[in-house]
Amino acid sequence: QTIGITCVPFSGGQPKGGVDDGPVEMIRFGLVDQIEGMGYQVDISEGMDKYRTMQPASDPAVGKLKNARYVSMAARRVSEQVRAHCAKGSLALTLGGDHSIAMGTLAGSTAVYPDLCVLWIDAHADINTPATTDSGNLHGCPLSFLLGLCEPDTPATQVFDWIKPCIRADSLVYIGLRDVDSGEKALLRKHGIKAFSMHDVDRHGIGRVVEMALDHVNKDRSRPVHMSFDVDALDPSVAPATGTPVRGGLTFREGHYICEAVAETGCLVAMDLVEVNPALGDPESLRQTVAVGCSLVRCSLGETLL
Ligand code: ARG
Ligand code: MN
Ligand code: MN
Ligand code: MN
Repeated sequence: QTIGITCVPFSGGQPKGGVDDGPVEMIRFGLVDQIEGMGYQVDISEGMDKYRTMQPASDPAVGKLKNARYVSMAARRVSEQVRAHCAKGSLALTLGGDHSIAMGTLAGSTAVYPDLCVLWIDAHADINTPATTDSGNLHGCPLSFLLGLCEPDTPATQVFDWIKPCIRADSLVYIGLRDVDSGEKALLRKHGIKAFSMHDVDRHGIGRVVEMALDHVNKDRSRPVHMSFDVDALDPSVAPATGTPVRGGLTFREGHYICEAVAETGCLVAMDLVEVNPALGDPESLRQTVAVGCSLVRCSLGETLL
């Protein structure tokens, strides 16, 4: 089995610099050697510097959306790289970068696996539309584009016209939510999207929650799975170096349990690990966050405790 890695040093989906150094820090921490050490081949997409040079000279707001052209171009490139990895039969591992890049990772993976289901592990729902977003930050919006929930025929849909709806509402499930905007809550309700918040994790325990989440999107464990893991799903005490931390998150073990359980299904075809921002906090926060990001990846690829 080959792991096809796409490094995406991209921060245009939100205002804080530094998240574009997430991939290089995870690689510097030894992630490639760790994955090879588990017996995999590693194939890294070329041209990771390209993302930084893609920023258009002028990118005025599109409605409320910031950096829309830049995000669109970067995500499009990501989609091509992820699609190429999936088409070769490699497991596509994408290292971010902010979560707007999931527009690209999921557009790419679903092009090869139209039937895949999505596990979105996050404190946030990232399903704002160009109309519902308050911040205008596109890392809070990728799922509305992928599900086809954006208001049609607007300047925003024109900038992102290459993204076709590719995920059905009943093929998506969330774990870890605790900071969901009111417009997002309305969308989750309207489209009947299954979500396990931190309240559900407290009530049922992570074991039951992961089982219920998989039962919802993948009853007989036969569909391909794309897991998009935002490191801010973890509690800030576990993963402090991230741009939009929210207290009351997943413990170290709960985060790892999700990855271990997904690995056990044998269905994982793509994974994103996003929102590691090495510029935030002291050197120890950085080391801790990068280390936990790498360890979540290894667990998702089948590393076990015994
Ligand atoms: N809901 C907020 C927004 O739309 C926060 C989104 C945070 N997203 C993330 N990928 N960290 O701006
Ligand atoms: Mn988040
Ligand atoms: Mn909020
Ligand atoms: Mn996110």
